[in-house]
Amino acid sequence: MKKTNQKYTLITGSSQGLGKAFAEICAKKMQNLILISLPNENNGKLAKELEEKYGIKAIQYEADLTKKEDLYKVIAFVKNYRINMLINNAGIGGAKRFEDATLTYLSDMVLLNILSLVTLTHQLLPVLKQEEEAYILNISSVAAFAPMPFKTVYPASKAFVYSFSRGLKSELEYSNIHVAVAHPGPMPTNENVTKRVKALTGMVKYSVLTPKETAEICLEKLLQKKTVIIPGKFNWFNSLLLRFLPIPLQLKILNGKLKPEASEIQSNG
Ligand SMILES: NC(=O)c1ccc[n+]([C@@H]2O[C@H](COP(=O)([O-])OP(=O)(O)OC[C@H]3O[C@@H](n4cnc5c(N)ncnc54)[C@H](OP(=O)(O)O)[C@@H]3O)[C@@H](O)[C@H]2O)c1
Repeated sequence: MKKTNQKYTLITGSSQGLGKAFAEICAKKMQNLILISLPNENNGKLAKELEEKYGIKAIQYEADLTKKEDLYKVIAFVKNYRINMLINNAGIGGAKRFEDATLTYLSDMVLLNILSLVTLTHQLLPVLKQEEEAYILNISSVAAFAPMPFKTVYPASKAFVYSFSRGLKSELEYSNIHVAVAHPGPMPTNENVTKRVKALTGMVKYSVLTPKETAEICLEKLLQKKTVIIPGKFNWFNSLLLRFLPIPLQLKILNGKLKPEASEIQSNG
């Protein structure tokens, strides 16, 4: 298939939450879109709506990015397009006692949050290199800055995203590709996270931003070629706290906060 002349922004996990907010803002900026989401998430409807509303091209592709065969199908499909922005947004998390979590739950988190992001970035680098200017935005989390009991794998996966992105950014310093990593704080997205966000107390409740606010800040800073993006002043402050408080003290505080959440989710099945 011959490549089209039009450039596209590829967004993973785009049918809801932060990914959907990215899709809407990019469409408003007249960027054509390739939207990747899980099967049967109504992504086709979103693509059609954005095309009609903004007059852009929006292509949707359904794939479970934890599955190697789906991941490679996505790569083969998107290589037919010119891509000048890759937003690795899809990610999963949650609070669970490590010993109670199934191996599937834990390995899916690693496959999605880490392996699919690395694979897409690696395989699409030659595509991005063909453009005069290109961008990669990897979505991490404020959680990347602290080890967390009852979340264990999630913050570790986001710390990976941080480290990987900074290393790659340096490696690609004098190329046409700018790499950035974003560390959002709490946002009301899916049902579980929204419940958790509503229950926040103390200073941390002021760090809540909507997915739209977060996506707007991330895209603005990405185009300004910032490398580490922490949306919102409170999240920036929290990330500093997490980086500089002694780890034993952090763990004690987080243990007290996350244990009830993990027990509640466990008792809810
Ligand atoms: N919400 C927060 O408070 C928060 C805070 C910090 C960082 N983050 C990060 O921000 C990103 C987006 O989070 P969110 O809260 O907006 O997401 P969400 O509403 O929980 O949805 C998860 C996203 O990941 C995608 N996804 C899940 N499993 C997938 C799979 N097997 N294959 C492909 N895609 C899959 C979903 O795709 P579909 O579009 O198909 O549903 C969805 O877009 C994640 O990387 C998350 O870790 C979120």
